[in-house]
Amino acid sequence: MNQRCLEAMATPVITARGGEFRDVMADLNSGLRYAFNLTPSQPVKKTHSWSSEDDYKVMVVSGSGTAAMEMLIANRFRSNDLVLVPTNGKFGERVAEMCKRFCNVKHIKYEWGRAFDLYELEQQLERGCYEALLICHNETSSGITQDAPAIAEMCNRYNTSFILDGITSIGGLPVHLEKWNVEAAAMGAQKCTAGPSGIAAIAFTTKFYERCKAIREQGDSNALFYLDIISAFKKGDDDQTPWTPAINLAMGWSAALNVLKEEGLENRWNRCQSLAAGVQNLFSHLGFELPADPFQRSSTVTAIMYPEGINDQWRVDLKERYATQVIGAQDHLKGKMFRVGSMGETTKEEMIEGCKRMLECFKDHGVTIPEVDVDSFF
Ligand SMILES: Cc1ncc(COP(=O)(O)O)c(C=O)c1O
Repeated sequence: MNQRCLEAMATPVITARGGEFRDVMADLNSGLRYAFNLTPSQPVKKTHSWSSEDDYKVMVVSGSGTAAMEMLIANRFRSNDLVLVPTNGKFGERVAEMCKRFCNVKHIKYEWGRAFDLYELEQQLERGCYEALLICHNETSSGITQDAPAIAEMCNRYNTSFILDGITSIGGLPVHLEKWNVEAAAMGAQKCTAGPSGIAAIAFTTKFYERCKAIREQGDSNALFYLDIISAFKKGDDDQTPWTPAINLAMGWSAALNVLKEEGLENRWNRCQSLAAGVQNLFSHLGFELPADPFQRSSTVTAIMYPEGINDQWRVDLKERYATQVIGAQDHLKGKMFRVGSMGETTKEEMIEGCKRMLECFKDHGVTIPEVDVDSFF
C-alpha cells in the first residue's frame, strides 16, 4: 500500500451515517467503476455514483474477496439450480466448493496450471442445463489466466450467465465486463488495486439483480442476511450500506483507487504485464519450471517450481536474510513451488531488486545460477 492509502486509513474515524461518509462512498464507488473498467461516474454524493450509462452497478462489501464471491453466489442461485465450474487451481476449486453450499454444481477439474478444454466446456453448455458458468478468471494458485473472451463467447451463444472471480484480475489485467457480457464479477481491494485487506466489491447487471429479487419474492432464496444483496441495493442510491461499513478501510481503498486513476488503468495492465514477462523470461532462461501453460500465463502472479533439493526454507531465508517476501504454494504443491506477485503498485526497480535477491538466495542454497544481467529482462 502506498503512503496515501495508509494515511487515508489513519484519518480520524467518522460516523457511517453522516454526509462525510457519503462523500467517501461516492469517491470509492467512482474508483470502483474505474477499476472494473466500466463507464465513469462522478465521485460526488447524491449523483448515483454506483451506476452510470452502462447496465452495471458496483457495490462495496465489508469483508474480503471471499465475502464478495459468496454474496454473488448465495443471492443469485436457488438450491435446485445447476452451474458449471471448470477449475485449474485452488481458487477455482473454492468457487466450486462455495457453489456446492448454495446450488448444484458440475465441477470440471483440470490439472493445476492447464488451460481449460474449451471443446469440453462447449459440449457441456450445449446440453442447455446450466444456469451459469463461473470461473476464477486469474488463478492465483497456479499462475494461469483463463481465456475469458472465448468462454464469454460460448456463454453468450448458449445463453448461459457468465460470472467471474476477478479477485486477482480486475485492476491488474484486461477485463471487459460489458464486451464479454459478464453478468457479475467480484474483486478484492488488497490485490491489483493495492488497497487494504478486508474490503471487496462486486459489479453486476440489471439481469443479475432482477434474478436475485425474483428468487427472493418466490421465497426460494438461500439462507443469508449480512450479505443480502436486496438490503444493500436499497441503500445504493444514497451512497450508503445496510450495516455499519468498514469505514477506514473504505477511506484507504478510495485513496488507492485514486492512485490507480492517476496511473491509468491500461498503464497499470501494461506495467503488470511487463513485470510478469520479465520474471517469467528470467526464470525460464535460468531453467526453472513454470507450471502454467505458456500461452495463458498470468500477468499479475507467476508460479515457479523450486529446483531439485530446494524447499520452503528458501523462502524463510529470503525473508530473514534478504528482507524479501514471496508467497508459497498451496495443497499438493506446498513446499514445491513459490509465487511472485506483479500486481498492485510494484515498480520495475523493486521487481528487479527482488529478482536479484531471489537469485542470491538460491545461490546460498547451493543452486548453480549462471551469471545473468537481470535488468536486461525488464
Ligand atoms: C483468485 C482469488 N480468489 C479468491 C481469493 C480469496 O480472497 P480473500 O482472501 O480476499 O478472501 C484469492 C486470494 O488470494 C484469490 O487469489
